[in-house]
Amino acid sequence: MSKIRKAVFPAAGLGTRFLPATKVIPKEMLPIVDTPQIQMGVQEALDAGIEDIIFITGRGKVSVVDHFDVSYELEDHLRNRGKSDLHSLAREVAEKAHVAAIRQKTPLGLGHAVLCAKSVVGDEPFAVILSDDIIQSRQPVIGHMAEAYETHGGAILSVMEVDEGEISKYGCATPADAPSPGPRLTPLQGMVEKPPASEAPSNLAIIGRYILPPEIFDCLENVSPDANGEIQLTDGLRLLLENSPVFAYEFEGKRYDVGDKLGFLQATVEFALARGDIGPQFRDYLRSLDL
Ligand code: UTP
Repeated sequence: MSKIRKAVFPAAGLGTRFLPATKVIPKEMLPIVDTPQIQMGVQEALDAGIEDIIFITGRGKVSVVDHFDVSYELEDHLRNRGKSDLHSLAREVAEKAHVAAIRQKTPLGLGHAVLCAKSVVGDEPFAVILSDDIIQSRQPVIGHMAEAYETHGGAILSVMEVDEGEISKYGCATPADAPSPGPRLTPLQGMVEKPPASEAPSNLAIIGRYILPPEIFDCLENVSPDANGEIQLTDGLRLLLENSPVFAYEFEGKRYDVGDKLGFLQATVEFALARGDIGPQFRDYLRSLDL
């Protein structure tokens, strides 16, 4: 199987759950402590050795692409004040990532956003990372998924077990009655978008990391829009399953849904507590609160 060299970052959604902040600020640029969510996602790809980064952007999202440019004035300013370290991480990401950006002119759904990457991805398998799912793990989850692809092919979807009452918020994976080909992998026979708990085929929720073969593009071109006029990635994956194996990958690590206000706050508190610079003071502050 070919190596995974490219990662697509759909970032053209309207971010309505974070209005009014997202009226002019892209959701992807909202920081966890001081690091934009999208930078954390790109860092995960770079840590997995994936350096070709393809952003799918829309109106009002230019700052996502600008963030990965080298900012000479800022660097000069910080160097002159002996504060280069403040910027070194962002610079490292900007230097390593080879960035391309494509406009999704209308936000017609996640499947449509992935389809927008067709001409830049070409005829090779690729990763998809949703930066509003942050996964903290010892090693980059997308790297493990790429390795699984290199051995088993097909398509690989990250999944995690959720409580029964939660599954209706997610795409839900339907396991096939077939042996697991490798660690953490389950062959699938289908997937259902946001099923009611009573009809869910499993408690495996599909999370924002995917390794997809290029055949997904033909599938996405052939699915019909849903009732809201959106092309769903789940529908494209269901078509893909007719001719290609699809595996669920149960990742190791903690996932934060930072596209949701509560998940965003949880990530902010936990990442702040883990920081060497502000963590101890922040812990003292939290302890002092009369909760
Ligand atoms: P979400 O379902 O979280 O939608 O998209 P959203 O617009 O970002 O946020 P809410 O629900 O309105 O608050 C999941 C991912 O798919 C991208 C989003 O940018 C996000 O990374 N997306 C979604 C697109 O790129 N284009 C679309 O048309 C829809």
